[in-house]
Amino acid sequence: PAAPVPAEKLLAFAAVPKSLADTVAVPASYTATILYALGDPLRAATPAYKNDGTDTDFDNRAGDHHDGMEYFGLTASGVPSASGAERGVLAMNHEATTAERLASHFLHADGGTATLPRPAAEVDKEVAVYGISVIEVKKTGSTWSSIVDSPFNRRLTPLSDVEISGPARGNALLVTQYSPAGTRTRGTLSNCGGGRTPWGTYLSGEENWAGYFVRGAADDAARGNDKSVVALRRYGRRQGATSRHGWETGGADDRYQRWDISRKGASANGSDDYRNEMNGQGYLIEVDPYDKTRTARKRSALGRFAHESGAFGNPVAGQPLAVYMGDDSRNEYIYKFVSKEVWNASDATPADRIGTGDKYLDSGTLYVARVNADGTGQWIELSLANPLISAYTTYPFADLADVLVNARLAADAVGATRMDRPEWCSVHPVTGEVYYTLTNNSNRSVDPGAAPALLPDAGNPRVYTDMQGAAAQNGNPNGHIIRFKEGTGGSSATSFTWDVYLFAAESGADATRVNLSGLTADQDHSSPDGLAFVKSTGICWIQTDDDAYADVTNNMMLAAVPGQVGDGARTTLAYDKADGSKLNVDTFVGKKPTADTLKRFLVGPSNSEITGITETPDGKALFINIMHPGLYTARADIGDPARYKSQWPANAGYGAGKRPRSATIVITKNDGGRIGT
Ligand code: FEO
Ligand code: CA
Ligand code: CA
Ligand code: CA
Repeated sequence: PAAPVPAEKLLAFAAVPKSLADTVAVPASYTATILYALGDPLRAATPAYKNDGTDTDFDNRAGDHHDGMEYFGLTASGVPSASGAERGVLAMNHEATTAERLASHFLHADGGTATLPRPAAEVDKEVAVYGISVIEVKKTGSTWSSIVDSPFNRRLTPLSDVEISGPARGNALLVTQYSPAGTRTRGTLSNCGGGRTPWGTYLSGEENWAGYFVRGAADDAARGNDKSVVALRRYGRRQGATSRHGWETGGADDRYQRWDISRKGASANGSDDYRNEMNGQGYLIEVDPYDKTRTARKRSALGRFAHESGAFGNPVAGQPLAVYMGDDSRNEYIYKFVSKEVWNASDATPADRIGTGDKYLDSGTLYVARVNADGTGQWIELSLANPLISAYTTYPFADLADVLVNARLAADAVGATRMDRPEWCSVHPVTGEVYYTLTNNSNRSVDPGAAPALLPDAGNPRVYTDMQGAAAQNGNPNGHIIRFKEGTGGSSATSFTWDVYLFAAESGADATRVNLSGLTADQDHSSPDGLAFVKSTGICWIQTDDDAYADVTNNMMLAAVPGQVGDGARTTLAYDKADGSKLNVDTFVGKKPTADTLKRFLVGPSNSEITGITETPDGKALFINIMHPGLYTARADIGDPARYKSQWPANAGYGAGKRPRSATIVITKNDGGRIGT
């Protein structure tokens, strides 16, 4: 690929200071405009959002907790065009909804019902704010806006009809009451990070779906203690597990009962059998952003886990495509999918986009990463061809579908490296190196007690014990960014080298053990989550989802111009263990950033997370999401705006009511230039 050659100086803006103000702060030479907030109508027939808890019809409104997002261009006349920079569609995830004790309190006039059973009308509203939005956006003069009633506008929710694609399609593990053939499932849920394919479709990662299902207290025995019990435990559903919102109590209708995966009816054709319902969630789902008539497809070949990004390696004609992915839970893994088909550049503009997805994403090989102490790593194949998987007695795999649907167990079998919560990943547009945010991990310790606490290792080397003068605390609360350089073979390489590009830290923290990257007050941050390189300038945007630094600053976005794997130095972290012995962990720290290579660009409103990164092809508009402002507002304070933890975007003049709303914003430069210059 051609290297971006910016005519302008990158990161020429003045750094935005850390802040606790309830506003979106950007450099003085930039403007942030609110485009699309929770409840905004997609259709003219849907009433304007009153934002007082009485609104309905969320199937035709913006969902909640806007997260990963991609821009897909249109020509001035509305024809799909990769270069369309002044008209396009945004495809975005709605990951979750702000709640306290079951009810999503901002969605209900009185804060909702915080006990079981939940009223059907409340459940119907809450379910519909999940899923995916596709919304047209357009620039008129110098101003961007979203287009109500655009024919491109579309919502997917946890009730939409979706196809299972790839090796798990039709497998016994996917047989449900809804789809006795095991070829379809209901909806998409907990859509978090995502990505875009080289053929112009949207990928959405299903992340924290397990928490929405309940299991009866005696379900292990009811299942005959079969291997499904092993799988359910590994994916976070022990028997007796309760659900986040109690949606299973909404009534007798199938759309409520589906959330109880211990239900098994008598019908021979699988009717009223919900035991496999959760196997329909946990994938990267592919959506055609330009054609709402095409059913979305869950790409089972890419594995089932708590998906975040789906980041493609830079495509090379005649070579397989690589898709990099992470499983965002404490101590989970990093994955790579390699397509069976090699890339044909004419597929960049196909007549059938979803069909092209079938070609590249339904057959291939899934790998998991092992990160070695010497700066190397391996991609380990997850299939029955790997003897460690075919001989695994903890969970006997039946076939490839079983390996993919239960990828976490397969990764356990091969001894992959447990990481500090892999969030987003992105590929450098020139070097092809792969960057992963490891957001934090409270479950790592130099003195591990009960499992699954892990010792620090080379790729996850930092644990706080006596650091920062605080009381002893375990884990890695600030997180770091690791990067991989593929070995011979490029996309299909089975080995790589790595280093830690950046350790997040407070600028005043101990430079030898915490602030290892030497961050200044203009650069310091905690818990990196969103991360994406943009093609126009090559800037790597880094966004935070943090609690550890929240006494000092709201969440933020930084602009980075990273170097490459191996540009720094080997470092030893020396720990004192409780028994008086020492633990030394060697790691590789990338070259420390300078004021020209890392700078804070934006700070968000109170109690929000900054997420979603996508640009117009000319680099002159950058779209991001402000997720869950006012997150920790108490249910008891509903109706008293003075007690809301945030009043954004109302306090920025957007919309009715003062209840805080997740929203998409667009950032433009006042001189019309590219973002980040
Ligand atoms: Fe939904 Fe891993 O953040
Ligand atoms: Ca995330
Ligand atoms: Ca996060
Ligand atoms: Ca968050």
